Amino acid sequence: MISCAYVTFDANAALDDERDVALAAWAEAGIEGTPVVWSDPGVDWSRFDAAVVRSVWDYTDRRAEFLRWAERVEGQTRLLNPAAILRGNTDKTYLRDLAAPTVPTHWSADDLPHWPEYVVKPAISAGAKDTIRTADRAVAEAHARSLESAGRTAMIQPYLDMVEAEGETSLLYFNRRLSHAVRRTPMLTPGKSDADNARAVVREPAPDQVELAEKVLAAIPQALLYARVDLVRLADGAPAVIELELTEPYLYLRYTPSAPKDFALALRELVAG
Ligand SMILES: Nc1ncnc2c1ncn2[C@@H]1O[C@H](COP(=O)(O)OP(=O)(O)O)[C@@H](O)[C@H]1O
Ligand SMILES: [Mg+2]
Repeated sequence: MISCAYVTFDANAALDDERDVALAAWAEAGIEGTPVVWSDPGVDWSRFDAAVVRSVWDYTDRRAEFLRWAERVEGQTRLLNPAAILRGNTDKTYLRDLAAPTVPTHWSADDLPHWPEYVVKPAISAGAKDTIRTADRAVAEAHARSLESAGRTAMIQPYLDMVEAEGETSLLYFNRRLSHAVRRTPMLTPGKSDADNARAVVREPAPDQVELAEKVLAAIPQALLYARVDLVRLADGAPAVIELELTEPYLYLRYTPSAPKDFALALRELVAG
């Protein structure tokens, strides 16, 4: 029996509604999964064959501590995804270095472009936290300045209204194999809550989306147990990356019957070789 830590966080782990379905699929694949809180200092990580990073949803306010944790754990067991991936992926400045089309982004509160509507978000964030949408350039600039004065990197983007029409498409890969894709709920429309991050509809990805997602993943040399490539379309219809989620993506496991098993078999492949 393979033994893996299912790495979660302390504040209300019940928020993670994918844990039980994942652990059940792991068990069927011969993997005993134990939920473990990443920041618990008493854990002997060496007793696991691997530690699988999942719902570590409190890392955004303590990223340095989280990355130190990842490096320490990697000295004791197989960490998936690997620490180098977590380091590069927890700060959205990685988008600048992606060899693929991304959402147009202005990286400073100075000299904002003129766009009909703006999204302003911090580079280190999840769940649209501290993110605003506004048509007012002065309001966008003020939010970017407030992020910068708190020592954060601001990202200013045009608001892409296609997220409310065609919608954002997330492609889910386990050990680099496409498992499924979903159409996400737009998060910057009125009345959205954290729970809407987990609301989606299964969809067949278009060939140009699969091609772009796989090009992005092919440029990454490390093992990738899980990867979520979030895509939008620009005004000319071309697909573009809005986010590459290699740290703690929600996996939409309950949306496709085959997804939990795809995840478990990928884990077994990587750990058992
Ligand atoms: N430029 C944008 N245009 C339209 N919607 C956006 C834009 N940027 C973010 N959003 C909305 O906010 C959500 C969260 O933004 P994202 O960049 O994915 O960061 P995170 O998920 O890490 O908070 C997206 O899924 C999308 O619904
Ligand atoms: Mg996102």
